[in-house]
Amino acid sequence: MSNIYIAPSILSANFAKLGEEVAEVERGGADWLHVDVMDGHFVPNLTFGPLVMGAIAPLTKLPLDVHLMVEKPEDYIPAFAQAGAHVITVHAEACVHLHRVIHMIKEHGVKAGVAINPGTPVSAIREVVEDADLVLIMTVNPGFGGQAFIPGTLRKIREVREWKRELGLEGLRIEVDGGIAAATAPLVTEAGADVLVAGNAVFGRQDRAAAMAEIRSSIS
Ligand code: DX5
Ligand code: ZN
Repeated sequence: MSNIYIAPSILSANFAKLGEEVAEVERGGADWLHVDVMDGHFVPNLTFGPLVMGAIAPLTKLPLDVHLMVEKPEDYIPAFAQAGAHVITVHAEACVHLHRVIHMIKEHGVKAGVAINPGTPVSAIREVVEDADLVLIMTVNPGFGGQAFIPGTLRKIREVREWKRELGLEGLRIEVDGGIAAATAPLVTEAGADVLVAGNAVFGRQDRAAAMAEIRSSIS
């Protein structure tokens, strides 16, 4: 298996047959399953909560990569941990006490991720990067699938890769989310990303296995 993970985002799946959709991407070679949680406040959209994710969890062996686009994410960490999260990522912009929230995630036995929007500098997470298991650089403004990749975010990916080198954080994952497809995957992986979230590029296609294979071959 490649060291670059592909994490299809179920935001772009058919919610009326979520179980089948998850099984299809699992068979098709996904590494993680990306679960986008939106509250209508932090982002202008609503999706699902821990009950829906808890219904998916027993159907798949894929690690569940939970992206909390919510205000007060700390209020939902216990429920998502209980529902089977492998990683829980919170936005720096949504946390007054970011360090505390990261440690709260870890205390629940879950890997901790920290995300930043395109308009937020990487310096916002510099003081917690050594505490985190994953950094998520948003490559679109969060809220919706199918948006265009923002090229200016590449600089931020490179900066986090530099921190990894300087600080010896070999295990730190750098995830990107938004507008990732065969055309943009080589750009982000060259910059240092190693977890690629893809919504529309995978679920927007009839053949999800072929869609993921195209992304993989674009970076090999
Ligand atoms: C955006 C979400 C993404 C979304 C990506 O707010 O966080 O995970 O599903 O969708 P695509 O890959 O279609 O840009
Ligand atoms: Zn996401």
